[in-house]
Amino acid sequence: MMNIIKTKNYNEASRIAAGYFARAIQQKADALLGLATGDSPIGMYKELIRMHQEDLLHFDQVRTINLDEYKGLSPQNEQSYRYFMNQHLFQYVDIRESNTYVPDGLAADDMQECARYDTLLDKLGPIDVQLLGVGHNGHIGFNEPNDIFMKHTNCVDLTPSTIQANARMFHDAKEVPTQAYTMGILPIMMAKQVVIIVCGSAKASIVKAIIDGAITPAIPASILQCHQNVILIADEEALSLTK
Ligand code: F6R
Repeated sequence: MMNIIKTKNYNEASRIAAGYFARAIQQKADALLGLATGDSPIGMYKELIRMHQEDLLHFDQVRTINLDEYKGLSPQNEQSYRYFMNQHLFQYVDIRESNTYVPDGLAADDMQECARYDTLLDKLGPIDVQLLGVGHNGHIGFNEPNDIFMKHTNCVDLTPSTIQANARMFHDAKEVPTQAYTMGILPIMMAKQVVIIVCGSAKASIVKAIIDGAITPAIPASILQCHQNVILIADEEALSLTK
């Protein structure tokens, strides 16, 4: 059973989501946070930065591990997820860079990079709180609709719809990488708590499928129905099709 929190808007969703992460850090100074990029978490990161600036929250022992990274992009590339994390969170708080982990987009060997990330997850984990956004097709991380749930870190071919959705961040759709590294479903399911942020009417039908639909790898986020401690934070628009 998912715990569903309906909010008036994105800002309220961001504030509530930030509360879960702040509590995790307050309870455990070296909490391991599973982080995401995209539009959904930006407001929550702003809220965490505000708490830090008001001296309410400290990241000096916090550890973070990100869900995914484009293959082929360097940390200096403005479209890389490492760059995104620096821009939207890390540079504004007292986190140590050596405590932040993102897959290496420039790794020479895909299989070695996936194995390295899984070893890291085993060593650092389990994740205390995992943040997730959801793609329009139900992807989590870059685990796209599939015949099976991919358990471990893998290097995926992005679907045309995901490439199209992400093209908004690039100058030209042709610049969107066609492959990405993503954490598998297992470390997400093993996280002690999962916080999902979904806002806007464009996500209404996928939100309905995730909450009420079948558990199927065709909609990767549907597996979260099996997790013991999921908080789905959604605005009225995203919940407009859900009873
Ligand atoms: C990003 C990620 C993706 C996004 C999803 C939703 O690290 O893992 O699964 O969470 O594509 O993106 P937004 O929030 O931009 O709608």
